[in-house]
Amino acid sequence: MSKYEQVKQELLTDKKTWLITGVAGFIGSNLLETLLKLNQTVVGLDNFATGFQHNLDEVQSQVSDEQWQNFRFIEGDIRSLEDCQTACTGVDYVLHQAALGSVPRSIKDPITTNSANITGFLNMLTAARDAEVSSFTYAASSSTYGDHPALPKVEDNIGKPLSPYAVTKYVNELYAEVFARTYGFKTIGLRYFNIFGKRQTPDGAYAAVIPKWTAAMIKDEDIFINGDGETSRDFNFIENAVQANILAATTTNLDAKDQVYNVAVGDRTTLNTLFDYIKDTLKDNNVSYDKAAVYRDFREGDVRHSQADISKIHTLLGYAPEYRISQGIEVAMPWYIKTLS
Ligand SMILES: NC(=O)c1ccc[n+]([C@@H]2O[C@H](COP(=O)([O-])OP(=O)(O)OC[C@H]3O[C@@H](n4cnc5c(N)ncnc54)[C@H](O)[C@@H]3O)[C@@H](O)[C@H]2O)c1
Repeated sequence: MSKYEQVKQELLTDKKTWLITGVAGFIGSNLLETLLKLNQTVVGLDNFATGFQHNLDEVQSQVSDEQWQNFRFIEGDIRSLEDCQTACTGVDYVLHQAALGSVPRSIKDPITTNSANITGFLNMLTAARDAEVSSFTYAASSSTYGDHPALPKVEDNIGKPLSPYAVTKYVNELYAEVFARTYGFKTIGLRYFNIFGKRQTPDGAYAAVIPKWTAAMIKDEDIFINGDGETSRDFNFIENAVQANILAATTTNLDAKDQVYNVAVGDRTTLNTLFDYIKDTLKDNNVSYDKAAVYRDFREGDVRHSQADISKIHTLLGYAPEYRISQGIEVAMPWYIKTLS
């Protein structure tokens, strides 16, 4: 049995209280769904900056009434220390996901990104420390690798940040380290690499590439590729990210704490290949798309290639991704078609 299966089995008979910040967002709502299905108690905090009530409604539709009763939502802002303190009361495990998660947005408006991602993070760290929670796991980012050219990315070798967003995510890691050193409050940072799956929004200027392209293909619109299409990413299906969070939150391995980990598959897929994957999977679902991609300029602040070495998280937390990119796209496609048509 995998480590993840073992932990899920144990949780089914051991009810804990989890706090998910950013619970109305993409990753947060998927964490919520899995934890409620494991009969856990969940407190959720969100200010709906980029999250949606309909994400919470959809989770409600996926769980039993009894499981939904185990969820308490607080509409609040991580920029308020008081909101963070209220949310942390009585909590065992914190999964801190709330942030403004877009590179272009941070370039346009660094001040708002800074306040949510740095002040908000510090508030959550402080509130969780004071509430003496058992574990604090937070969403870090592969953007912390910045301009470091080495591939695959190994946790200790980072470069200079390429955007205000990347600065904020790196500062999170610095604060986390200092909280361990200064207060003995040990956390785990998960450097997500391009997570995709249901409830990731295709709308708006800052949409992630997979839902955006899928929505455009379903509507028979043009697909724009920034650059030559050979830009690559380690796309990771949401269920793998959920696994990483649950393993990190519940680990009893002391060496595994006060660490940051890559959360990815360990593969590298170019945008040109991704275009074909989405097109082919749509075809398998009886949606045809015949247009060629339209190439345009590279996007400011974008990293050229990204691929993770996942040996650290495998060794210390027992993480083993269950889905590769094409499998994730296959699983997500019916949801995309239903929701984005
Ligand atoms: N999706 C990815 O591929 C990816 C990659 C790297 C890192 N991350 C990080 O993962 C986390 C979750 O990202 P996501 O993709 O689910 O994004 P998302 O925008 O769907 O979710 C973020 C949630 O945080 C909430 N939020 C924002 N500011 C807040 C505030 N001040 N107070 C309370 N709630 C607030 C939003 O309303 C939203 O519901 C973020 O920290 C992001 O930086 C995501």
